Parts: sequence; structure tokens; C-alpha cells
Amino acid sequence: MKVLFFTGKGGVGKSTLSAATAWQLSQTGYCVLAVSFDPAHNLGDIFGVKLTHKKKKFTKNLYLQEIDLETAASEYVRTNVSLLTEVYGYLQSFNMDKYFKVLRFSPGIEEYAALTALEKILKNEVSKYDYLVIDTPPTGLTLRMLALPRITLTWVDQLIRLRKEILNKRYTIHNLKGKYEPRGVQLAYKEEDDPVIRKLFQLREKYSEVNDILQGEKNSVAIVFNPDYLSLRESERLIKGLKDLQFPLRVAFNNKLTDENNEIALEVEAKLLSAGCPKRIERVPLIPHKGISGYMIEHNLTASFL
Ligand SMILES: Nc1ncnc2c1ncn2[C@@H]1O[C@H](COP(=O)(O)OP(=O)(O)OP(=O)(O)O)[C@@H](O)[C@H]1O
Ligand SMILES: [Mg+2]
Repeated sequence: MKVLFFTGKGGVGKSTLSAATAWQLSQTGYCVLAVSFDPAHNLGDIFGVKLTHKKKKFTKNLYLQEIDLETAASEYVRTNVSLLTEVYGYLQSFNMDKYFKVLRFSPGIEEYAALTALEKILKNEVSKYDYLVIDTPPTGLTLRMLALPRITLTWVDQLIRLRKEILNKRYTIHNLKGKYEPRGVQLAYKEEDDPVIRKLFQLREKYSEVNDILQGEKNSVAIVFNPDYLSLRESERLIKGLKDLQFPLRVAFNNKLTDENNEIALEVEAKLLSAGCPKRIERVPLIPHKGISGYMIEHNLTASFL
């Protein structure tokens, strides 16, 4: 399965071009899942159908889905609270309940929730679709979400190291004092008995897999921009952010071109190329959508993704 991310400044045409690309790929015979991660969804509006957190069949080989970040965040918190309760249940006197109640509002939860939703799709849908087309949330959230696997891996490696030290210390105490049972709970001192280190190894595997997919050959990040200076500035920041994260930038779409903005379009392209924009820039004209569905754009958008 190839994964295509459509990124760019607000209003440049990410949703329109991602929807049109998904439609065109499906019309060519590929099986496509188009997913919107933008909290201000309009994938459903573009296709003229009501979409939810669950994917919906649009045609026999095109499925659509809008990720509800609120639902994803609640699911993420619920899963992790039950896991923490299971592992640290014996620490009730440390007021863990109070911590659980505010976890939903903790910084980074939305990014982890979005990434978990993405990871679930990558894992469950990989064999069912030829293409996963993703309409991304605003630039900041997108970059933070895409940065998370690498950040998490750095953290997890440190936590594994710390946990091994804790287990070593427990082992020493165990040898000195016999069975180590603070508050009547037998705490693990071997790696194979410790649920915490098991979970850390699982997390390392999970985020390594996501990271490999995101930085791999089958992933394409497309940057959509318009021929104007505001779009240019944000695209420059986006290109830098994606390059820092080592994401494969494969194509850029210079969208909404007219005869009038041709000159500035060329100037913006030249500046973006010197900022590291992909060499492949597809030019998409401003198309009057007179009464037709938003996903039907005659201009061929798929060439860069085949
Ligand atoms: N090539 C095009 N020709 C004509 N209109 C276009 C074109 N591309 C996008 N538009 C129009 O521009 C507006 C913004 O497009 P769109 O919603 O796809 O942008 P977006 O980047 O997804 O915005 P947001 O950041 O708000 O999600 C819409 O009204 C859309 O119909
Ligand atoms: Mg949009």
C-alpha cells in the first residue's frame, strides 16, 4: 500500500486535491482509502456524503473516512488508563486516579491520538488497499504528529534503560532480603516477568514500524501551495520541517493557477525550489466548479504517484 500525504497551508486545496487524487486513482482501477485527519473535515462535503470515524464505501474500490480526533483522543486515553491501572494498580495511594482524570487535557494527547489512529489504519488496511490518501490537519499538528514516532523512540529507549536499572536493583534487593513484596505485592525483578518492560518493547516495535513506513519508499508527501506570498512562507517552513524529519517529499502542487497569476506562480516556484521543494511540481489550474462535485477535477493528478 502506498501512502500519500497532502500537506500545505490552510485553504490551498489539500482536501480538494487529495479527494480528486483518490477519485482518479480509484477510477484507474486501484483500491483506495481516503482519510481526513483535519479536525475541520470537509472530505464528506467534497464527495457529498456524510462521513464518520468509521470508513464508508463510496464506490466499489473507493472508501472514505474522517478521523474524529476527539473520539480518537478519548479512545487513546481510555486504553492507556486501563493499561496503567493494570500495571500500577498497587500504587493507588499515590493518587494515580487524579492523574488519570486530567490525562485527556495533557499536552501531546491529540498528536498521539492522531498517530494511533494512523497506525491502526496502516496496520489493518495495508493488505486491502493499493493507496491510502491522507488529507492532513493544519501544518503544526501534522509536523508534530509525524515527528512523534522518532521522539517516542528516543524516549522509549531511555525508559527501557531506566527500567532495566530498576529491575537490576530489585534483583539485588531480592537476593539480599529474599522475596521482595512491598505492600504485599510481588514485584517482578526479571525482564520476562515485568509487564512494564514488555510494554516498552511493544511500543518500540510499534513506533519503529510506523517510522519505517513514514520514511519509506512507499510514502509520498505532497506539498500543495498557491501562487501567493503567504502560501510561499508557510510552504518554506513546511519543507524545512519535513526535511528535518527526513520525510520523503516527492511532489508539489502549484494549485489555482490562472493567466493572471502566472508570473508570481513562477517566482514562488523558484523560491520554493531553492528552499528544497521537490523538483516535480505539478501545475493545477483554477477550475470553476460550476455545480459539479468537488472531487471531479479533469486535470490529471495521479502521474506522480503511479
Ligand atoms: N484547483 C482549484 N480550482 C478551483 N477551486 C479550487 C481549487 N483547489 C481548491 N479550490 C477551492 O479552494 C477552496 C479551499 O480548498 P480546500 O478546502 O481543498 O483547501 P484546504 O487546503 O483543504 O483548506 P483547509 O486548510 O481549510 O482544510 C475550496 O473552496 C475549493 O473548492
Ligand atoms: Mg481541508
